[in-house]
Amino acid sequence: MKKITANELRRLYIDFFVGKHDHAEIPSSSLIPENDPTVLFTTAGMHPLVPFLLGEAHPSGRRLVNVQKCIRTGDVDEVGDDTHLTFFEMLGNWSLGDYFKKDAIKMSFEFLTSSREASGLGLELERLAFTCFEGDKNAPRDEEAFNAWCELGVSEDRIAYLPKSENWWGPAGQTGPCGPDTEMFYWNSDKPVPTKFDPEDDTWVEIWNNVFMEYNKNEDGSYSELEQKNIDTGLGFERVFALMNGVRTAYETELFEEAVEAVRSLGGYDIGDAEPSDELVVSERVVCDHLRAATFILGDPMGVTPSNTDQGYVLRMLIRRAIRHGRKLGIEGEFVRKIAGIYVRYYGDAYPELIDNQEKIFEELVREEEQFGKTLEKGLREVEKCCSDDLLGGGFAFYMYETYGFPPEMTLEEIRKDSGLAGKLDEKKFWKEFEEALEAHKAKSRTGAEQKFSGGLADDSESVTRLHTATHLLHKALKQVLGDHVAQKGSNITSERLRFDFTHDEKMTPEQKEEVEKIVNEQIEADLPITCEEMTVEDAKKAGAIGLFESKYGDKVKVYTVGSKDAFSKEICGGPHVSGTGELGKFKIKKEESSSRGVRRIKAVLS
Ligand code: SER
Repeated sequence: MKKITANELRRLYIDFFVGKHDHAEIPSSSLIPENDPTVLFTTAGMHPLVPFLLGEAHPSGRRLVNVQKCIRTGDVDEVGDDTHLTFFEMLGNWSLGDYFKKDAIKMSFEFLTSSREASGLGLELERLAFTCFEGDKNAPRDEEAFNAWCELGVSEDRIAYLPKSENWWGPAGQTGPCGPDTEMFYWNSDKPVPTKFDPEDDTWVEIWNNVFMEYNKNEDGSYSELEQKNIDTGLGFERVFALMNGVRTAYETELFEEAVEAVRSLGGYDIGDAEPSDELVVSERVVCDHLRAATFILGDPMGVTPSNTDQGYVLRMLIRRAIRHGRKLGIEGEFVRKIAGIYVRYYGDAYPELIDNQEKIFEELVREEEQFGKTLEKGLREVEKCCSDDLLGGGFAFYMYETYGFPPEMTLEEIRKDSGLAGKLDEKKFWKEFEEALEAHKAKSRTGAEQKFSGGLADDSESVTRLHTATHLLHKALKQVLGDHVAQKGSNITSERLRFDFTHDEKMTPEQKEEVEKIVNEQIEADLPITCEEMTVEDAKKAGAIGLFESKYGDKVKVYTVGSKDAFSKEICGGPHVSGTGELGKFKIKKEESSSRGVRRIKAVLS
């Protein structure tokens, strides 16, 4: 196969859809979703397009194509294998109520199999396989997709029906557009291609996904049919780039070439003929992957910086994991800036924002590396001092994590190094105790993103409790007055006032503020009862509760209801609350101002 460069591959895809199928090219959106608390990062090309998938007119038309920067951290533990990456580029073509299933499949087939001269990838049909949705109670078996592939000449042996867990996509957050999909696989190996497709055999690499976006998942967990049926496709750029260059993994392509070389020379180790599962290979890939992601996050126009909450926390963990794996490879001293510099140079052409923001990228990386260095030093000293059985308990690891930001994996490593302790280590127990300590802490603390809705309030004095209940009333009243787009972005309560941040683009008018005050005060005058129930996240959604549905440890959440029969508000929350709204007094908005782009802040009191 004729080799291809990264820039050529991006162009080939765009030109095929623009030139042959009348699509308009649109730019990649930011990695940080705007005004959307349901996800931390843009995880797919469709994500920034959600309003248009739901029916809003897109200024560039109904057929769109682009290359989108994405971050996915859900599989961060898989990074190191041949295919999982935290940052990746997604090639996508969209139909917003224009062409649908059969045409989308035809276009994909044409791009995959036509020759390079005819603007395609020129892949052999013999090496391709496909999956379709097998059907369930919400949507039927996708025979239309199956038949469409067959009509194009695909053998039935190469098509498998799979369940929702595999062949259904979306929504990107908790609610939104979604539907069945068909996925395309490539046999990326010198081994003979089996006649029958076995989706369990991971020599078949998934490269492309066509989603037939026909449904909207609602807040109560139900599905309704979308009026406008859309196509959303995502072709994994790095995966296709690898196979087009005859290698198994993107780490062996120009995308990573220089970074991998630099890591090897800094570490001074010999990779020899190490297998992909070898720890050296895994660590070197983690360093290269995580620092590439960190460079793109820091270089994003909506860039964030390392912190202990939200995107900043993910960024911090990516950088710190990269440093830890760097140490394992024998890299001493500061090195992250150097690797980031390679990415800025290499990707600067395709993503000029990296060049524009390079000073910030380097500064933040160096600062985080220094800070982590200090953390590790302190942490290691402490661990050494405490060479006793205490170390074996996850509780100590939690203390180290909480006090020094010392990763629990490193406490484990220290234990393993000590021959006296290593024999006594029960890893399961260690992690269980660590997580228990973390949970207990979460219930007490108010800081940090995931604690916002899961923990109790630190100060449960009477006035804080009253203000907390008032916050629920305010949240609901804002939705009623300004619209359903209002979503909580932050909440902070002292014994004097509440502060509430929420998504909304404009300054509120005096009339709107008055209306919100009026609604809240009416609920107070009605002296509505407040009740609390524990339920699963699924049931909370079904009950129509608002609030963040991110429950890290799965199980149950508390839902507070204001009012009885036709409840005024239902919200996921850790409490506590008063038992009747009559206890609140009079509600008054003191200030309404901008908090950040697209986010407003209200300060209010009860008197
Ligand atoms: N949204 C689908 C995916 O991410 C197709 O773009 O796989």
